[in-house]
Amino acid sequence: MLLVLFSEFLGIAILLVVIYFLGRPIIRGAIYFPTTPRGVKEMLSLAEVHAGQNIVDLGSGDGRILIACAERGAKAIGYEINPVLVWRSRRAVARAGVADRAVVYWKSFWDIDLSQFDAIIVYGIPYIMNDLQKKLERELRPGTKIVSNAFKFPGWQIVNTERKMHLYIWKG
Ligand SMILES: C[S@@+](CC[C@H](N)C(=O)[O-])C[C@H]1O[C@@H](n2cnc3c(N)ncnc32)[C@H](O)[C@@H]1O
Repeated sequence: MLLVLFSEFLGIAILLVVIYFLGRPIIRGAIYFPTTPRGVKEMLSLAEVHAGQNIVDLGSGDGRILIACAERGAKAIGYEINPVLVWRSRRAVARAGVADRAVVYWKSFWDIDLSQFDAIIVYGIPYIMNDLQKKLERELRPGTKIVSNAFKFPGWQIVNTERKMHLYIWKG
């Protein structure tokens, strides 16, 4: 009897963990799907990432984009809602030796003021692009670069495209 209760409790606990890790990113953004190494290079080249810039990756996954930005001398901040990926990416950042320039926060990017950044990197999902566009329009400074992997902003003019990476520049 006790064993049955325990296995039921365990089943429910596992289900809740799965819902938390899979459901929250789906509702609040995109599920984890990393940009390829070639894609990372293309995104950084479109954003012309260089030393002294402030870059943000909205949903920073395993930290690969942050590390690449930091290796070019930029300050890179990632917001990530999956705590496992936060942990993994912090380790990767430390291993890459760029912890002084790359930081990962366990936080939803919807709750962040994006006005401090020179470039925004995002690999989202089609149904968030409209709301994200509105948020960026409210918060960005004119001249901010936005690079989106795969998905387009519905009301903005693309400045440049490399394969499936799209560059926008917010004019204000
Ligand atoms: C398609 S992956 C991209 C990962 C990384 N930027 C890359 O290009 O390799 C999207 C990431 O966004 C995270 N995510 C989804 N919604 C989010 C939100 N509201 N705030 C922060 N991270 C979010 C997911 O957990 C996932 O790691």
